[in-house]
Amino acid sequence: VKIFVPKDAAALAVGADAVANTIQAEADRRGINIELVRNGSRGLLWLETLAEVDTPEGRVAFGPVDADDVAGLFDAGWHLSKRDHALCHGPTEDIPYLKNQQRLTFARVGITDPLSLSDYQAHGGFEGLKRAIGMTPAEIVEEVTQSGLRGRGGAAFPTGIKWKTVLNTPADQKYIACNADEGDSGTFSDRMIMEGDPYTLIEGMTIAGLAVGATQGYIYLRSEYPHAAAALNSAIDNARAVGWLGHDIGGSGRHFDLEVRIGAGAYICGEETSMLESLEGKRGLVRAKPPLPAIKGLFGKPTVINNVISLATVPIILAKGANYYRDFGMGRSMGTLPFQLAGNLKQGGLVERAFGITLRELLYDFGGGSASGRPLKAIQVGGPLGAYLPESQWDVPLDYEAYIGISAMVGHGGLVAFDDTADMSHLAEYAMEFCAVESCGKCTPCRIGAVRGTEVIQKIRANHQREQQVHLLRDLCDTMLGGSLCALGGMTPYPVLSALNHFPEDFGLDATAPA
Ligand code: NAI
Ligand code: SF4
Repeated sequence: VKIFVPKDAAALAVGADAVANTIQAEADRRGINIELVRNGSRGLLWLETLAEVDTPEGRVAFGPVDADDVAGLFDAGWHLSKRDHALCHGPTEDIPYLKNQQRLTFARVGITDPLSLSDYQAHGGFEGLKRAIGMTPAEIVEEVTQSGLRGRGGAAFPTGIKWKTVLNTPADQKYIACNADEGDSGTFSDRMIMEGDPYTLIEGMTIAGLAVGATQGYIYLRSEYPHAAAALNSAIDNARAVGWLGHDIGGSGRHFDLEVRIGAGAYICGEETSMLESLEGKRGLVRAKPPLPAIKGLFGKPTVINNVISLATVPIILAKGANYYRDFGMGRSMGTLPFQLAGNLKQGGLVERAFGITLRELLYDFGGGSASGRPLKAIQVGGPLGAYLPESQWDVPLDYEAYIGISAMVGHGGLVAFDDTADMSHLAEYAMEFCAVESCGKCTPCRIGAVRGTEVIQKIRANHQREQQVHLLRDLCDTMLGGSLCALGGMTPYPVLSALNHFPEDFGLDATAPA
């Protein structure tokens, strides 16, 4: 019998290794023949460690399993497809949290053995690359453009147009740089895919290489993700060994190779130009644009820079066609986004859904409401630079344009939920402090502004010349919004102003006065 126990870092953090070892030991002791597969996580994080047993009716889920539960599970006959146990959730695919998702980018995560090439291919792996090999570079770029895919790192720039710029810039060398410096609070989709389905990222980057004429790729990975580093490095070696990477890819006569580079822990190195500096071995300082990295990027050469999820979505677009992908979503936000539910929620985890779903659906239908049992108050969407959304905005469809319309951003799809004990003026102060700590120091509005901003919010909180300080804070936010060189300084006003405008009472202001 086949038993699956995730090897994902979130599962390891709650003891998945001990569970796996105990299952093997218990099976050996009882003389039961099992095949233990270490899969990626299904993304139902509150149920980790989620162990699954393969049965004639499909996989059956048990969770959260502790090492102490294992003997009882064998006693109850889980290996004989019996389900009579308090931890049993029935067929995994029927759990509403999973059943109500639309998994395209995450289609294989949690299902396959992440490092098994045969498993990858048995589940549609390399189909996109095979098709791309038979196409011209311009045809690949056109397919990605038609799919409507936009940058999933947060900026939502059309991926096909970015690739076209690189394709049309003549150079002796071009690069693909994958931004895997997933630094936003409450986000983990990049990590989950790198650990749970690393070949899909390798395949996406190889297709990007064929599309623009790049022969070398780099994955810039944050040092906080050691399990992703291990998975990627093994996957790269395996793919190279069978000819899906390196020389003569898939028998095409074309060349593309990959290397993982580890960052040193600065949030700003997730900003694309500062990431390039870091990749070149320098301090992570932001470069002014233009020139765009697509024209003058890594080592001065045309470079495609995309987030992990953007690149990992390319294989399914090539395999199933642009029209298949663009049929999901709404307006100009096509396809799906892996939303990440974090903070004060009962059921945190990963939910891949087409654009157009609302925050309320994510929070209650999937998240199950607050973990504390208290009313939810504010949701920060899109990382530390994202706005705090009050309940009146939870029915706005998650769509890039609709969110811009309410001065918020979808970003990388991370949500952090807060209940009614949250003090929004304190969170606003934290946003400024975060910017002050992480600022690269290159431009004044951010370097100085964030320090002054922290002080001003402290004065407001202490009721020291409150009205005057609020005026100053708005003025300062205006300067940071308009005058910062990059998104760190330029977007810190989003959490600050949304907290001030939607929760004035937390700043000691009259809630009925106009903003
Ligand atoms: P941006 O809007 O300046 O650029 C978007 C992308 O399009 C860049 O790669 C840029 O080089 C490219 N581009 C623009 N015009 C182009 C053209 N004509 N041809 C080819 N490429 C072109 O935004 P930026 O500064 O890159 O990103 C800011 C976003 O990053 C924010 O919206 C935020 O959501 C997100 N972010 C994500 C984080 C994460 O951990 N994933 C952390 C912090 C911020
Ligand atoms: Fe550096 Fe901040 Fe200016 Fe960005 S906004 S370039 S992080 S100082």
